[in-house]
Amino acid sequence: MARRKKIYEGKAKILYEGPEPGTIVQYFKDDATAFNAEKKAVIEGKGVLNNRLSEFFMTGLGQIGVPNHFIKRLNMREQLVRQVEIVPLEIIVRNYAAGTMSKRLGIEEGTQLPRPIVEYCYKDDALGDPLVTEEHIAAFGWASQQDMDDILSLALRVNDFLSGVMMAVGIRLVDFKIEVGRIFDGDFQRLIIADEISPDSCRLWDIETGQKLDKDVFRRDLGDLKDAYTEVARRLGVMPKNAQPMTKPTLIN
Ligand code: C5P
Repeated sequence: MARRKKIYEGKAKILYEGPEPGTIVQYFKDDATAFNAEKKAVIEGKGVLNNRLSEFFMTGLGQIGVPNHFIKRLNMREQLVRQVEIVPLEIIVRNYAAGTMSKRLGIEEGTQLPRPIVEYCYKDDALGDPLVTEEHIAAFGWASQQDMDDILSLALRVNDFLSGVMMAVGIRLVDFKIEVGRIFDGDFQRLIIADEISPDSCRLWDIETGQKLDKDVFRRDLGDLKDAYTEVARRLGVMPKNAQPMTKPTLIN
């Protein structure tokens, strides 16, 4: 059996070389980290849930014409995605104040914002992903003005889509983070959504009770993270009832 090539291992995912040029296998780990990996745990089954949930969101986005890297799910923990050149930004969209915005600006968590607010952080773990402005992004050449126009439009489309999908199952989309990557087609390049969209990268609150159904459950010790993610998956009709988490990566070739 051929050993496949690991391209990258991050905090929550491993990327392997895909079966075709321009493809990557994205493996979802059970590892949970917070505060730039100062807090760590293994939450059995989290990777399975995030694999399914990211598939669900990316597929839906594709169906409404929002380009993204998802090709197909391979198994419980892995999906085949397009290889992209990641733009070194974390793009955060906020509908309600929470987290670092509440802290930074002294706005009570849960306050509805007058309009969606988009923030950019420079992707660098050693620096703790600092907040940056479009001035930094342009001056340091991380993205062009055209890229920034495209990123804003992608981020707001994702926000409208996710807000609607969540509202339909009684969940408020407080905020989320996405990443984008470049794909090249001859002389042309375009930006598509990459990485993952899951409760690891969103804030999701039950509309009725305000109960948190996202990674804040882990960050703030609010209960069982797997139960929270399972509830999101259950409401969206995503997880097959008898699915068992798989514990080891498998080879696809
Ligand atoms: O921590 P903060 O309030 O800035 O996070 C805003 C949103 O972005 C949250 O949904 C959080 O889960 C997500 N985020 C992320 N990865 C990071 C930073 C934030 O997914 N490195």
